[in-house]
Amino acid sequence: MKQDILSIQDLSGSELHGIVDMGIHLKSLRNAGIDHALARKHTLGMIFEKASTRTRVSFEVAMFELGGHALFLNPGDLQMGRGEAVRDTARTLSGYLSLIMYRSFHHETAVELAKYAEIPVINGLSDHEHPCQILGDIMTMQEAFGRTEGLKVTYVGDSNNVCNSLLLAAPMAGYEMAVCSPEGFGPKEEILHQADSVGSRYELFTSPEKAVSGADVVYTDTWISMGNEEEREIRLRAFAGFTVNEALMQRAADGAKVMHCLPAHRENEISSVVMDGPSSVIWNQAENRLHAQKALMKMLLE
Ligand code: CP
Ligand code: NVA
Repeated sequence: MKQDILSIQDLSGSELHGIVDMGIHLKSLRNAGIDHALARKHTLGMIFEKASTRTRVSFEVAMFELGGHALFLNPGDLQMGRGEAVRDTARTLSGYLSLIMYRSFHHETAVELAKYAEIPVINGLSDHEHPCQILGDIMTMQEAFGRTEGLKVTYVGDSNNVCNSLLLAAPMAGYEMAVCSPEGFGPKEEILHQADSVGSRYELFTSPEKAVSGADVVYTDTWISMGNEEEREIRLRAFAGFTVNEALMQRAADGAKVMHCLPAHRENEISSVVMDGPSSVIWNQAENRLHAQKALMKMLLE
């Protein structure tokens, strides 16, 4: 029976921990120059409806280093972009590929692709969730603190796809969350219901100063996600005062780390001083996408 990863909740707690441990192991093999071609001859099709630097390059390099091959599939060049049904694309690609990674505007399209594909479909970001990001993030927290259990993770900014997946992963990783957004930009009811149903522990705030008090991790992301560009002016006004800067970081716990999934908009959601400063684990976080996704694909192929 194939397993799709459309939500971080499609993984069990033991699978998530297994991926993080395997990601750390594969990182050490790579750093030591040891071959780890664990997916020889496998193929990954990557469909991107939206731009990407990290997801595209990390998945492509991951598949290459696992001994397989990745294909970048631009919907504009696929017949899907000219109206071929998603279900027909899913069935056709299932005859060629081992795995599909899909970055979609609408989460429902990823659900439909997964429904008709006979091979695992990985959500490479939708409007709803970004599970692959959170795998690399949990690996980064594990490396930074030696644990994820008991951490306080404060997310400051727009309650978007990344925030949703962080919230839903909380009980598996054992961290508590604080989510701080301006009025109207907090987590949607549907996500809070899901978070409640899986036992996430979280508090909601509108004051960044209160939310980051005692935080081990301060996490932020863009105020204007892909697809929200028309709301740019409204959002820039609404998020004034939500920049993760030195003054805000001083309210966090001693040794707190700052995280950002990238791409960042310097001096909007995060200051350059913080992003490039000693508390930042952002570059390791970006690199860990490679290792965690290798571990994820290895698990799905077994
Ligand atoms: N964080 C992340 O998914 O980055 P890209 O949009 O560059 O893939
Ligand atoms: N929330 C951002 C994340 C990009 C990786 C977006 O959806 O554009």
